[in-house]
Amino acid sequence: MSAYSQELKATAKAMVAPGKGILAMDESNGTCNKRFAALGIDQTEDRRRAYRELILDTPNLSDYVSGAILYDETIRQSSSAGKPLTQVMKDRGIIIGIKVDTGAKDHPLCPGEKVTEGLDGLRERIAEYYQMGARFAKWRAVITIGDGIPSRTCIETNAHGLARYAALCQEGGLVPIVEPEVLIDGTHSIERCYEVTTETLKTVFNQLYIQKVVMDEMILKPSMVISAKGAATQATPEQVAAMTVDVLRNCVPATVAGVAFLSGGQTPEQSAQHLNIMNSTHKDLLPWRVTFSYARAIQQPALDYWKGSDSNVAEAQKLLRHRAACNSAASKGEYTP
Ligand code: 13P
Repeated sequence: MSAYSQELKATAKAMVAPGKGILAMDESNGTCNKRFAALGIDQTEDRRRAYRELILDTPNLSDYVSGAILYDETIRQSSSAGKPLTQVMKDRGIIIGIKVDTGAKDHPLCPGEKVTEGLDGLRERIAEYYQMGARFAKWRAVITIGDGIPSRTCIETNAHGLARYAALCQEGGLVPIVEPEVLIDGTHSIERCYEVTTETLKTVFNQLYIQKVVMDEMILKPSMVISAKGAATQATPEQVAAMTVDVLRNCVPATVAGVAFLSGGQTPEQSAQHLNIMNSTHKDLLPWRVTFSYARAIQQPALDYWKGSDSNVAEAQKLLRHRAACNSAASKGEYTP
């Protein structure tokens, strides 16, 4: 058992408090720059800082968002007024989270597949982040569906990595967000996604058990069960919600502190709608709080409007708050598009 056990349980509970979800804003510099480049925004440390300040300083964000996941660069940055962004978060009542994996790399001997790295030195990095005020962490593994994949090898290695990360987090006082993402890319059917998500989650929870990870001191961040972007037939929102709830009920222990989805390339409206159906139609079937941990589905309209210009900040913040509010409503089954 972790020396931080009581604190971990309290943090995990607060992360999924009623009406709250988590804001993912932990894009690596590479990913952030790519999104900036698409909009003609300068890809500099100062613009990344300005953008993250815009998000974290959004008035009333904490009405809808319990915590935000930062990238290593961001947790060390300060606002334009010189206030550490971690202090901005504390002042606004937002729990500090940190991405601790070092990215998905090509999986050796498994063409077309990835393995997430970052275990080396992780205990020391967790200790430093805890000192800086972080109380939860994230590690994302990616599972790709394609011809003959995912392989058992890829699912096992990624599940093992997630479990070892989660154990180190609990030891060091950070609530682990365990994120096995089954990618939406490709042409596969929703049935194939159901199968792969089931195998992935079963394997992940078996590894979490082997590594002694405590269920009510962690958050699961899954992808929804959905048709691939390029699938000929697209499942309805009702099918997505029903099949996602079914997989979760079959694979996720009821004692897990909470489930917070990624948006994974769904539009802002789709991701809110799917979450809303789960929390309305299927409400009585859910033993956990089921909420959001979206990046693009919350940020994109704000980023599109901001375009790197300081004069657009206030309006961009309104757009960000609106998406956060929509998803907060969806987490209670009260969203209307
Ligand atoms: P998206 O919601 O954009 O998929 O991002 C969530 C996330 O944190 C991916 O790791």
